[in-house]
Amino acid sequence: MYRSHNCGELRMSHQGQEVTLSGWVQKTRNLGGLTFVDLRDRYGITQLVFNMDTDAELTEKARKLGREFVIKATGLVAERGSKNPNRPTGDIEINVTTLDILNPAKTPPFTIEEETDGGDDLRMKYRYLDLRRAPLQRNLFFRSKLAIETRKYLADQGFIEVETPNLIKSTPEGARDFVVPSRMNPGEFYALPQSPQTFKQILMVGGFDKYFQIVKCFRDEDLRADRQPEFTQIDCEMSFLTRDEILATFEGLTKNLFKEMLNVELEDFPKMAYDEAMERYGSDKPDTRFGMEFVELTKESRGKDFPVFDNAEYVVGICAQGTAETYSNKDLKKLTEWLQRPQIGCKGLVYVKWNNDDTIKSTVGKFYSDDDLKGWLSKAGAEKGDTLFVLCGEKEKTQKQMNELRLELGRKLGLMDPKVFKPLWVVDFPLLEWDEESERFHAMHHPFTSPKVDEIPNMMNGDHEAMKRLKADAYDLVINGVEIGGGSIRIHDKELQSKNFKLLGFTEEEAEAQFGFLLGAFEYGAPPHGGIAFGFDRLNAVMNGVDSIRDFIAFPKNNSGRDMMIDAPSPVDEEQLNELYLDLKPIEKEES
Ligand code: AMO
Repeated sequence: MYRSHNCGELRMSHQGQEVTLSGWVQKTRNLGGLTFVDLRDRYGITQLVFNMDTDAELTEKARKLGREFVIKATGLVAERGSKNPNRPTGDIEINVTTLDILNPAKTPPFTIEEETDGGDDLRMKYRYLDLRRAPLQRNLFFRSKLAIETRKYLADQGFIEVETPNLIKSTPEGARDFVVPSRMNPGEFYALPQSPQTFKQILMVGGFDKYFQIVKCFRDEDLRADRQPEFTQIDCEMSFLTRDEILATFEGLTKNLFKEMLNVELEDFPKMAYDEAMERYGSDKPDTRFGMEFVELTKESRGKDFPVFDNAEYVVGICAQGTAETYSNKDLKKLTEWLQRPQIGCKGLVYVKWNNDDTIKSTVGKFYSDDDLKGWLSKAGAEKGDTLFVLCGEKEKTQKQMNELRLELGRKLGLMDPKVFKPLWVVDFPLLEWDEESERFHAMHHPFTSPKVDEIPNMMNGDHEAMKRLKADAYDLVINGVEIGGGSIRIHDKELQSKNFKLLGFTEEEAEAQFGFLLGAFEYGAPPHGGIAFGFDRLNAVMNGVDSIRDFIAFPKNNSGRDMMIDAPSPVDEEQLNELYLDLKPIEKEES
């Protein structure tokens, strides 16, 4: 027998019992005649004691144990002299009588503790060691329970989980496809799904009515803290429901998950139109845990001979409470430099400080009277002690920059409490996005998204400018500034879908070749339908107040898309390439 108990379960009530434990050596300490070993497994840590006076040979053996050795120990449970209140097993220890080394271990390259000294790539290379750490264990247990609760809730609501294939044809979600060569079909490729979008729509045509799937998706795109090349969605689709009924269903799911997992009761989710979100926050995924809303000052700032504002398409301010006296000139200089980094690209930052002694200090004080500046402050709802930060320029760009500044100030001022959750539905997104460079429209969500019903005549008959103004029946679920999910009501009419493909630059032949199956299905009685997909990794991270999704994925990839542990991607041998009819020229690696 390897164990009678686990390392997290022994208490004072077990005193005097003989027990056997197995696990990993977390730490050994030699104190005179006594040697203490912390033994760890998934359930906790238990202290083992070896006594030189009682058994010198055994104690010598214990002294030689290295970190992460796998051992089995048998002994008697005893009350501890000095108890450790921070550990559930801290009242007891085991006086060991037998010790077996099940497997020795090399010294790990980083500490297997709550906080580790290992860098990201090292931790990923030795993922099996990182996975032993308590935070990773907690995260993966959380993830597992979140998936179980999701399945329970959706099954109770009458959803069916259906698996869809991974070897498919491209589904455009705005990223590049990962492709897989087909040996049996020389020169032809499958694409890995960016999402099961078309399949779930086909399932609606197939009459399933309420579908979900916890499913891997693959996107070849630039990676960030909240983006992995393969990630997981809770993917859902429903028939014969209006947008608001669909939103209510998934608001119900989200509320239930927060209740079951965190015991948090979420209030009803507000809805905000995309245009409003952009005006108020300069972002389609605003963090609504704090205010600091945009106030437009374009008109107010004109005509006072300050050419920068006079010539700007858009002038906008935000009010940072209580910073007039706390932000030094040095702080403001740093903030300005932060905004001027190429990633953000501001030319400069204007501020108006309303000091506690009622004086006004501003970088543009030369051009504007105190009364002018007080007018701005009052429009921004500022009070004494506040600073108004102002940016200007081309509207869209300035909105983005001000959004960055707002988030940075929110972080600096501690306004983003990770224990507070503020969900929001952002609705009525534009249907199409005009790309100046390629001179063509892109789908803002994806090509299967329906315009709002009253926009259909405009879409069928309108001119180019009208296309830019079309609104979609698309929605995002945003929590604490993170896009957790996105979905839409779909087009279920062949003519409208064909028109959309045309607007997106597909010729009739191309649309037929790529999506003929869907257009075909629409001719056989497609029900009105719509759905959503939640980013499952992101949901885990946001619920735990963490920015990066990596630590909620057992085997993530790094920012270059590499799996550091198995060292993938990697070259394949020539024979395999020949079998796949791939004639690749070797790529010369640059010498570093
Ligand atoms: P969308 O592309 O908005 O919609 O994706 C849905 C959600 O998936 C998450 N997500 C990601 N998470 C981690 N890494 C990535 N690379 C990544 N890309 C997206 C986000 C996002 O909100 N088929 C549609 C859904 C629908 O219309 O029903 C779709 O995939 O949280």
